[in-house]
Amino acid sequence: MRIADDIFYVGVNDHQLDLFEGQYIVPNGMAYNSYVIMDEKIAVMDSVDVHFGEEWIANLAAVLDGRAPDYLVVQHMEPDHGGSVSAFMDAYPKATVVASVGAFNMMRNYFGTGYEDRRIVVKEGFTLSLGSKELTFVAAPLVHWPEVMFTYDATDKVLFSADAFGKFGALDVEEDWDCEARRYYFGIVGKFGANVQKVLAKAAKLDIQTICPLHGPVLSEDLGHYLGLYQTWSAYEVETPGVVIAYTSVYGHTKAAVELLAQRLEEKGCPRVVVTDLARDDQAEALEDAFRHGHLVLATTTYNGGIYPAMHSFISHLLDHAFQRRTVALMENGSWMPAAAKGMRALMEQCKDIEFAESAVTLKGALDDDARAQIDALAEELAARF
Ligand code: FEO
Repeated sequence: MRIADDIFYVGVNDHQLDLFEGQYIVPNGMAYNSYVIMDEKIAVMDSVDVHFGEEWIANLAAVLDGRAPDYLVVQHMEPDHGGSVSAFMDAYPKATVVASVGAFNMMRNYFGTGYEDRRIVVKEGFTLSLGSKELTFVAAPLVHWPEVMFTYDATDKVLFSADAFGKFGALDVEEDWDCEARRYYFGIVGKFGANVQKVLAKAAKLDIQTICPLHGPVLSEDLGHYLGLYQTWSAYEVETPGVVIAYTSVYGHTKAAVELLAQRLEEKGCPRVVVTDLARDDQAEALEDAFRHGHLVLATTTYNGGIYPAMHSFISHLLDHAFQRRTVALMENGSWMPAAAKGMRALMEQCKDIEFAESAVTLKGALDDDARAQIDALAEELAARF
């Protein structure tokens, strides 16, 4: 696949992976992207997961057509990209690896060598001439690891963006970009919004016509859409007005209460209501939905005198990913001693800029008139915030 006159795609699709990073379901697989820039000198942009090293080197050889690459640029050393660096260095003994000092330290950890005699250490603003093209390196710490560099090719107006602008899903499967890019962003990079904002500010000064990420498709049309979403996501702004109700239910009573709340919200004209069962649905999708919308209702059973495990796990994800700037409402159930709301509130108070709804809902088993009245009051209060 040709990206520009002298830039080619040589990445691979992974349909064998069960869980990306050991935790994210990837029903449509995963792509590990890699690119070759052909000039007087040849630069390869990143390697791929170790399980696909042979396929990648074969892709590379097909594009190189007998020439040998001069440089391997390693923008990110997480093993989904850095896993085949050592195989490349063995296959091309005259090649030089180009990376940040942080990346070389990680190579030493993974491969037992920092390639001291075969390397160029780069940092913010450094350039590498390939002949007619020149690569400029842009530090992008914590997008997603500290060693990350983006690379800009001013001749072709291409930004190589490491994990940024990536998504779940292999490239031989057609699917919506926004949904799987959002789930990827909030799961993988979401905690580091301030760092993403800094690198977006640097990118705004560049003339970019094509974005080449390390996952997902090459982006070359309507770049404002993707840049706009990254701006919204990294600033923790609301992308879509609406309410997410994340719940757990053991015998169906809390579920019935949640369904009633969803119905009441829709009756009051809530622009969008998303209901997710945290014990059965993908929690990464629930996390993405929580960041996407303005209001979050947490509804759960009291369990062992505290919070039901699936809800506890979800709140841990919210805290770990720097959830912030949202309204949170609480609903609890407990047959003899409801205690989940107090526990959830104590945890959610650790999030920045959270406003708790004044109305809360407590059930003591099944829905009754008292609980229905509390649900009506909560729907009324949330409706006032739409
Ligand atoms: Fe795609 Fe942070 O690795």
